[in-house]
Amino acid sequence: MAFTKPVLVTGAGGCIGSWVLARLVADDVDVVAFDLSDNKRRPALVMDEAALGRLRWLTGDIGDSDTVDRIVAENDIGAIIHLAALQVPFCRDDPGAGARANVVGSVNIFQAARQHGVGQLSYASSVAVRGIGDNPWLATLYGAFKNCNEDCAAVYWQDWQVPSVGIRPGTVYGVARDQGMTSLPTVAMLHAAAGQPYTVPFTGSVAFVYAAEAADAFIQAALAARDGAPVFDLNGVGATVDEALDVVRRLLPEAEVDSEGDALPFPADLSDEPLREYVGGYDVYTLEQGIEETVGRFGDLLERGLVSVG
Ligand SMILES: NC(=O)c1ccc[n+]([C@@H]2O[C@H](COP(=O)([O-])OP(=O)(O)OC[C@H]3O[C@@H](n4cnc5c(N)ncnc54)[C@H](O)[C@@H]3O)[C@@H](O)[C@H]2O)c1
Repeated sequence: MAFTKPVLVTGAGGCIGSWVLARLVADDVDVVAFDLSDNKRRPALVMDEAALGRLRWLTGDIGDSDTVDRIVAENDIGAIIHLAALQVPFCRDDPGAGARANVVGSVNIFQAARQHGVGQLSYASSVAVRGIGDNPWLATLYGAFKNCNEDCAAVYWQDWQVPSVGIRPGTVYGVARDQGMTSLPTVAMLHAAAGQPYTVPFTGSVAFVYAAEAADAFIQAALAARDGAPVFDLNGVGATVDEALDVVRRLLPEAEVDSEGDALPFPADLSDEPLREYVGGYDVYTLEQGIEETVGRFGDLLERGLVSVG
């Protein structure tokens, strides 16, 4: 891995952020972690104390332009992996806060990259943009904000040649995925590992992206200075909720996990080939590999009292 300057990870205390931190620190990258608080509960699920101790952890609101500018300037940031955001239910419950974190926050990142010449930038869009416009998928404020991020990225390239790579993950699953509407298959895996019953309240096809795969894709995308502001789907493995739960039941035959309700209103059959071609290889997991690792890790974390159900 060839990051020559410190890498800023926003939303570092979140699910994908935790996996990004773990990977970067394991590769001896100098990491500046940024989030609203210094709560390292999620990163501590995928990193040990020594690894956590190697992070520079800064707190603040991504919606505050001075804060973001100062962090990029004062830490000699050479690459940014921008993940901070409020997810679907939080944007629905407080649209103003959602717009501030997801839209203003992303503009602050693009602007700081412009001001300080950061040419390596990947950021999280979402499959939820597929719901914006004339299509069968669900339109959400969250998707509208992510759509706006992609438009802003294009204009930052057009007007000021700030390059970026946008990635639209589907449903990320794995240890540390504990909030947002699509976190519930992971909640089912945790319950199965704990020997507790659980019903996922939706069915149908889901784009299952293992958190380690998502993290590696964001890192690969930020690894080089690129041209333009392309955006790519990150679909992972398309499978029904029940097919994923079948994998859980094969691994843990006593597991009482099932699903009911409507299908998740997002596509699950998008191609990851364009992303792989553009950023080069990143680690890819089959559904069996991702779920086996997840229930194994949950079993260990439950024993150590680091996670609990309910
Ligand atoms: N998890 C998924 O399935 C999924 C799918 C598509 C897109 N995404 C996107 O990927 C990114 C990471 O997702 P995740 O699952 O890790 O989310 P997460 O909710 O676990 O983490 C998001 C982090 O952003 C931080 N944050 C929120 N508002 C902030 C603010 N104002 N200032 C600073 N930090 C703030 C939160 O504290 C949290 O730690 C997000 O942009 C999300 O929209 C996630």
